[in-house]
Amino acid sequence: MAVKSVVLAAGAGTRMKSTRPKVIHDLAGLPLLRWVLDAIASIDLDEVVVVVGHRAEEVEKILPEGVVSRLQDRQLGTGHAVQAGLTGMEIGGHSILVLPGDMPLLTESTISELLSVHQASAAAATVLTAEIKNSDFGRILRNDGGDLVQIVEARDADPDQAAVQEVNGGVYVFDGSLLEAALDDLTTENSQGEYYLTDVIGILARSGHRLGTVTTDSVELTGVNSHQQLAAAADLVRRRINDKWMSEGVWMQDPERTYIGARVRLAPGVRLFPDVHLEGTTEVGEDSQLGPDVYALDTRIGAGSRVWYSVMRGSSVGDGAEVGPYASLRPGSVLEARSKLGTFVETKNTRLGEGAKVPHLAYMGDADIGAGANVGAGSITCNYDGVSKYPTKIGEGAFIGSDTMLVAPVTVGDDAFTGAGSVITHDVSPGALAVERSEQKEIRGYSARVEARKKKKRQGE
Ligand code: UD1
Ligand code: CA
Repeated sequence: MAVKSVVLAAGAGTRMKSTRPKVIHDLAGLPLLRWVLDAIASIDLDEVVVVVGHRAEEVEKILPEGVVSRLQDRQLGTGHAVQAGLTGMEIGGHSILVLPGDMPLLTESTISELLSVHQASAAAATVLTAEIKNSDFGRILRNDGGDLVQIVEARDADPDQAAVQEVNGGVYVFDGSLLEAALDDLTTENSQGEYYLTDVIGILARSGHRLGTVTTDSVELTGVNSHQQLAAAADLVRRRINDKWMSEGVWMQDPERTYIGARVRLAPGVRLFPDVHLEGTTEVGEDSQLGPDVYALDTRIGAGSRVWYSVMRGSSVGDGAEVGPYASLRPGSVLEARSKLGTFVETKNTRLGEGAKVPHLAYMGDADIGAGANVGAGSITCNYDGVSKYPTKIGEGAFIGSDTMLVAPVTVGDDAFTGAGSVITHDVSPGALAVERSEQKEIRGYSARVEARKKKKRQGE
């Protein structure tokens, strides 16, 4: 049977008290809504419609290709939202899978199971439920025969109904035509004055339709309505992600303090010390060791590298390279194999050739540093004149003396040297030494002269 899906994401998320729509809040590097869309991405669906409303443009921006949005102009409730989602949709003969946009821990296997149970049973609707005590979820009400007959919202429930622990996950599969008809019969007679999608269940039951349920783990139904719940969901997602990587051969000293984004990829043998944050499309190769304290965004790290106490953004670190402690790789930094970027070194749009070293206290911007070169402590590329940026080229095997100012654009040839403290404004020929500083003078007996002056001053007092 063909299935189409409606994902509800029009609500303001009032309980978040946020300046942004609830469903675009970040969870391990992906917006909440994106987690739900990822969970159904490989399910065979004829159409996926996201219902948007509150700050619709911001939500539309995060939709993947192939997913369309439909506007619910006023947020009159979940039933009204589904109606908006179905507007203009070819429904005949289709099942409709309805998902909330704020339930990021739902898994593909649970949603697939709900679909297959629904299809096998020929029920008018099948609802995903779980056992949760004292929740704010809708309660599943059954008749004496155990059949689902109604869902009542927690805030509309009487004490007996509120005591029910089986709750509504907000994930349903409906027969499309029956759903469409029942939505027309919704009223707003409830504590919130909204059109509740949950009332469709009672309407279908009263007209004699059979309804089914599938029960899942309560973790999957972790909803996000507040910042407290967002933090709780982030905790669960972190555990799920870390478990997955540990089972694929990644070592973590403390999984409670290891933060890996949804799109990050790790090779077996990777070792992670505490407070490592890997974000975006970061990739780490075999046997690399990261942390303590590493932040990496959209950065590729090769095999057998070591990075600690450092920040890397939009960069690439080759095999066997060493970074840190306290290095900052800004976008466009490329460290080739076995190179080293040491303590308090910043790079930007800079290539460090194979085996090259910048071990201490340096800034290399818009630079190309040849293989095997060594850049001494305190050296800086003066790449910016306040108007434009200029390149610096350091040849293979070159030796940049400590505290060299490389005033760009400038080239230091292969195997050339610069003297410590030099301000290099002209190109240096291959193999040459460039020194730019005044001759050292020596004034002998100077301390004796100072002593004599002190003595004279004391006598004068
Ligand atoms: C809803 C269910 C509740 C269930 C719970 C599970 C109803 C009436 N209640 O409650 O039984 O236990 O989900 O999570 O359905 N939305 C719109 N337009 C609207 C209102 C909501 O698009 O007019 C969207 C929201 O953005 C959200 C989703 O629908 O993504 C659920 O809405 P929310 O207000 O969070 O419903 P709950 O109170 O959680
Ligand atoms: Ca909710």
